[in-house]
Amino acid sequence: MSIHTDPNCPPVISSTPVKVPPTAAVIFGATGDLTHRKIVPAFYHLAKNNLLPDDFAIIGFARRPKTDEEFRKDLGDALQKFSHTKPVDNAVWEKLAAHIYYFQGELDDPEAYKKLAEKLKTLPESPKIGENYLFYLATSPEFFGQAAQNLASAGLASNAANGNRRRLIVEKPFGTDLKSAQELNRTLQGAFAEKDIYRIDHYLGKETVQNLLYFRFANAIYEPLWNRRYIDHVQITVAEQVGVEGRGGYYDHAGASRDMMQNHMFQLFTLTAMEPPASLDAESIRDEKVKVLRSIPTPSLDFLQKNVIRAQYGGGYINNKTIPAYRQEEKVDHNSLTETFVAARFEIDNWRWSGVPFYLRTGKALAMQFTEINIIFKRPPSVLFAASGDDRLRRNSLRIRIQPNEGISLNFNAKIPGKAEAELVDMDFLYKSGFDHYLPEAYERLLVDALIGESTLFTRSDEVEQAWRLIDSIHDMWTKQSVRDLPLYACGSMGPVESDLLLEKSGRHWVRPKELTA
Ligand code: BG6
Repeated sequence: MSIHTDPNCPPVISSTPVKVPPTAAVIFGATGDLTHRKIVPAFYHLAKNNLLPDDFAIIGFARRPKTDEEFRKDLGDALQKFSHTKPVDNAVWEKLAAHIYYFQGELDDPEAYKKLAEKLKTLPESPKIGENYLFYLATSPEFFGQAAQNLASAGLASNAANGNRRRLIVEKPFGTDLKSAQELNRTLQGAFAEKDIYRIDHYLGKETVQNLLYFRFANAIYEPLWNRRYIDHVQITVAEQVGVEGRGGYYDHAGASRDMMQNHMFQLFTLTAMEPPASLDAESIRDEKVKVLRSIPTPSLDFLQKNVIRAQYGGGYINNKTIPAYRQEEKVDHNSLTETFVAARFEIDNWRWSGVPFYLRTGKALAMQFTEINIIFKRPPSVLFAASGDDRLRRNSLRIRIQPNEGISLNFNAKIPGKAEAELVDMDFLYKSGFDHYLPEAYERLLVDALIGESTLFTRSDEVEQAWRLIDSIHDMWTKQSVRDLPLYACGSMGPVESDLLLEKSGRHWVRPKELTA
């Protein structure tokens, strides 16, 4: 195990050193935002942490004409802006940049892929890399299927008999409903083997999300309580302060349910609710996650009408910044009925969870930026303390802070000194003070995993489809409702009043983040 001291970007601490094999990584959509903000900065951090082999090349595939030098300069400028560790180590960047190339081509032109195949064989690094390729589809989603087919026609997709690796990373959104996701799965699987398809959900790359497995299954004390006997309900919140920020064109066709709930929130949901897997291999874990979704029967129209709410942000201020009303955002329809906030109650019909509601909510332009899972335990019987005048015993709860202030806290009732009364106090674990290790960004972990062929942190086809089945039922209900308007909520609030009512009608309430309770 190695420990490091560079305060800007200590190398990853690992007792099992990862060995990334020589590979050429081709990024489709190379001039796009994701490449500049996330993918290339992630490769830079892998290089900085000595996780990339010397025989490694990155090829950016995009439409605009550009030289290798221009492309490297664009990426270098973006790195200065978006790197999560500063200052950027120029020596590391220069070394990596020397292995970055640009390839001009149209995504829908099969000839371009044939030329790409030629280029891949003639790079200076090619003799050492062989034909081991990682293709990253960071394009607009309508090109996913076509690009995979074109790769296959150019002979770039098949796993050649000589053992060459050909893997495909696919960004989100993966379809817009069950039907389109099934079609996309069929197309991709027609080109690449399922085991070589890596569907990204960047939440799975977050350390705190991976820790859910350790927290639940590496400790003896929680598992006996993790069921309907002790847990009253579970809340999962992904709250964002930002509005749609220039992504109106995409977001107006997605909304919070497709953009966040179908993927990121369902990952948190299934990891919280799944049974212990038989082993930590990819299939065992993914099997258990899919089982959770399959144990949620498609909700009836009546249930959905009572238990799903949506709303849109009106204008306002957050942190002294003006946020326009959603309908005034760039590229958003002025009469849009797209939800920027959604909250829903889900019920899992299995032995562990029957009768325990899971409340999920997510929204943009809210009071705070935070992602939390709150496990609310049943109320303790209070007859004992009621006799001494204190009937205010509150429920214990476990707060799992995915981001920011990454950590976990458990609260319990304690006697207030000098009084015959109890008050909730916290036991708190904070990553920052518990570990002084480097916290890699989600994309760093996911890129390494795809490069070494580890698919646990990627979504399997059946999981995506099960998630769409549930989200589709919500959309079907909304279509039937055919409303003319949506409830509005003020920017900087915690969403519409309907969201509070969703819990209040069963005597519950959303747990407020600590910062808002003060
Ligand atoms: C993306 C969504 O997948 O996740 C965005 O498209 C959202 O709308 C983002 O803002 C949130 O990710 P994170 O890591 O900032 O919580």
